[in-house]
Order: sequence, then C-alpha cells, then structure tokens
Amino acid sequence: MAKPHLLVIDQGTTSTRAIVFDAEARRVAIGQREFPQQYPQAGWVEHDPEDIWRDALATAREALDKSGVAATGIAAIGITNQRETAVVWDRATGEAIHNAIVWQDRRGAPRCQELRAEGAETLVAERTGLLIDPYFSATKIAWIIDNVSGARERAERGELAFGTIDSFLLWRLTGGKVHATDVTNASRTMLFDIHRQCWDDELCRLLRVPRAMLPEVHDNAHVYGTTAPDLLGAAIPVAGMAGDQQAALFGQACFDRGSAKSTYGTGCFMLLNTGDEAVASKHRLLTTPAYRLDGKVTYALEGSIFVAGAAVKWLRDGIGVITHASQTDDMATRVPDNHGVYMVPAFVGLGAPHWDADARGAIFGLTLGATQAHLARAALEAVAFQTMDLIDAMAADSGTRPAILRVDGGMAANDWLCRFLADMTRASVERPSDLETTARGAAFHAGLATGVWSGLDELARLWSRERCFDPQMDEAAREPLAAGWHDAVRRTLSHPA
Ligand code: G3P
Repeated sequence: MAKPHLLVIDQGTTSTRAIVFDAEARRVAIGQREFPQQYPQAGWVEHDPEDIWRDALATAREALDKSGVAATGIAAIGITNQRETAVVWDRATGEAIHNAIVWQDRRGAPRCQELRAEGAETLVAERTGLLIDPYFSATKIAWIIDNVSGARERAERGELAFGTIDSFLLWRLTGGKVHATDVTNASRTMLFDIHRQCWDDELCRLLRVPRAMLPEVHDNAHVYGTTAPDLLGAAIPVAGMAGDQQAALFGQACFDRGSAKSTYGTGCFMLLNTGDEAVASKHRLLTTPAYRLDGKVTYALEGSIFVAGAAVKWLRDGIGVITHASQTDDMATRVPDNHGVYMVPAFVGLGAPHWDADARGAIFGLTLGATQAHLARAALEAVAFQTMDLIDAMAADSGTRPAILRVDGGMAANDWLCRFLADMTRASVERPSDLETTARGAAFHAGLATGVWSGLDELARLWSRERCFDPQMDEAAREPLAAGWHDAVRRTLSHPA
C-alpha cells in the first residue's frame, strides 16, 4: 500500500501556501500565492476573506496536482495560520460580514487605553497570559460587530460566528459543518483562560464579545471534521490546527523545556518552551500555550516583534531600495559596518518588550555617507537587535538563557543575518534543513492525530540541522552596537521612558 501523505495549508499574513509532505516529513510539492493587503486608514490593515479562501483552495489543489498524490492518498490536512486576525461571518450563508481585521491593525488602541485605565491589566494577564494590546482579536471582533449595522444583535442571537483564519478555513472546508479552533489560536483572542482551558465569560463581558459567536476549542492534534468531497476530490480529515508560531515551534521539534525558536516571516516571533509551567512574565513577554496533546498543555513564553520581513518588503515595495529581498544579504556584506545608521521598524507600533501601539518607524544616524546598503543593513540589524531584546527578556523571566536558537522562515535563509543574530544574541543559531517549519508543525499535528506518526520521539528524529552559526563577535564590538540600538528605540517610543 502507498505510504500516506499530508497536506498543509499555511495561511500567512502576505501569502497562502499549501504543501504536500510525505511520511518522512519531506516536502513533495508546494503551491503559493501572494494576496492583496488593504490599508483603509493609517494603522488599519485588512484582508478580504474571499481572497484567503480562494487562494487556500487553489494552492491546495495546485500542491496536490504537482505532487501526483491522489486526494485519497492524503491521510489528513493540517491548517496553520496568521494568528489573531479576526473574521466574522454569517452562519447561514458562510459570508463574512466585513473584511478580516489583521493582527497588525491598531484600531483597537483607544479601547485598549480605556481597559488599562479601568485597571483590567492584571485580570487579562492572569487569565490569558497576554498584555492588553490591539494586536489580539477581542477588540477587532467588537469593532466589527459595533460597526456593521445590526451585527451586535445578530451576534447575540448566535447568527454570526467569529473565527481566526484557521477556524474560517475549517468552516469553509467542511462545507459549513464545523465551527472550531485550536487552543493556540484561541489563546490569542484575549478571551481564553489558558489555565482552565476555556472561554472566559467575564472577559467576554469586559471586551463585549458575545459568547455565542465563539468556536469550540480542541487539542492541536484532533480530527476536527472532514472536507466536503467536491472541494479536493475526496473527504479528507482536517486533523491538525495550530497558529503559525506555535506550529513552527512544533515543527522545529522544540519539545524540551528550555528549547527555543525564532521565526522570521512578516514579523518575528520567538517562543521558548517552558514545559507544563505557564511562566508569568515580568518583562512584558506573553505566556501562551505551545501545544495541547491529549488534553495536556505545554506552555511557552513568547516575544512578538511585529516587523521583520515586512521591513525588507518595505525596502522593496515602499522605497525601491532593492528589487529582491535576497539582495540584502550582499548589500549588508558590502559595507564594513552600519555607519551609525539604525532603523527602528515600528511601522505598526512596537511589540515586545515595549508594547507601544503609537510608536512609528524611524531611521537614525543618517549622514551624507549613508548609502542604500546601509539602509539594507540597518533593516537586517534591526531584526537581530529585536531578537536580542527578546532573548534577554526570556533569560530574565525563565532564569536560563537559551544557548541555542533554532531559526526558520524566509529570512533565516540569509547567512549574514544568521551570523549577526548569533553575535548579538550570544546563542548558537541553528538552521534546519527545511525552513518551512511552520507547515511542518501543522503536518506533525495532523499526522499524530491520524497515526502517521507515533509520538514526539519519532517527530524529533525527523528534524535535521543544515548549519549552525556560533557567536564570533567580542563584547567590545557588540556592546556599542547594542547601545546604539537601545538609544534609537528610546527615541522612537511614543512616551519615552
Ligand atoms: O501573530 C501574528 C503571526 O502569527 C503572523 O505570522 O508568519 O504571517 O508573520 P507571519
């Protein structure tokens, strides 16, 4: 009998891809599409849910076609997704009532100010592990149902459904039969109690989100439902779901307490496995479920940086300094140093550890000697500096400094960045053979739920290292760079300390 394969839909902030994996977790085929970003006002970011659905289906079909694997040969589908992005749809028609409000969108900032002024921070942190910020779904959901005529009443009556992108895709894939999500996505709404593992009625009231809109919450490896047969040519179980950052941690086989990964996509998200302990951060990191298997939760500390690859995309699309992202590697190498140029990429505010929704991007230290290469270098350096700040906060919170950082995502292919990351974080930076660890993590969940793989030990054996970058820079060179960065950040904050 043919060995089973897995199909993963990886729905990210700027692109949607679908990947077929074989039973050794090797990539067999991939389909990928970029889709439009909508910026209706400064600080607002939206996606058309129909673009997302259309691309998810098209890339899934493309990957299947290219793989030569019949739909009946797919043991299960895994879904992984940009987290926090909120969709509200009509249960009767399956149509979204508004564009999806994207995780980067800041329109909930005034409501978050009010919540902080009302003293809600401790309650939110204790129950959800999060800080109050418009990044999370709750204020986005409330905004939609308050701004679409009649929506709040309809939501109260249970006629409308909320979901993050995983949940929306699941609903569509199952032909409107299943309204569910997984614990990692649920935990990013600001409505989910990560200790009791359930929606929190008090938070739903506080954030004005009707309980009737919320999906059921399950383990990551779980048979959520089966696809409507006409969509992909067979009824395939959807058996794994996880938010993309938690999926990447899983795909990097960071199963041991103390293991850490950092993913460089649109943003950069670093997660440190803290085992069965939900470590409360004293340094403005998030406490978040990493995965839940057979009802048992493994937690992580997370540092969320909103802009990583997005800064390089801005160099390309915003100011035309480069025509292709990969040029930054050469450009950064071409100049001997940063020439005192620092870029603070606060395009959508700053995430961890500052959480300043009103900060905006800035470039410091420009002189007549500054060139395009310095700008490219500054964008890459900013990614490493921000990772350094996260690792320092994690070390302070958890009491141990990760000695190894596993990296993935598109930017991790950049050798210059990996070397500089190792120098600034003082950790060995391990790059895996397969940089698509997000999709791999969702495949792992789907494969665990359907018996393709037996357990974590088998999954750990499927991970392999392509290259390791060890720290080389001495402290005398490192320290002034870190100081220059911290000075630039201080000057960027909307309320400088
Ligand atoms: O929390 C947002 C995150 O899930 C987005 O990930 O890969 O699209 O940058 P990415």
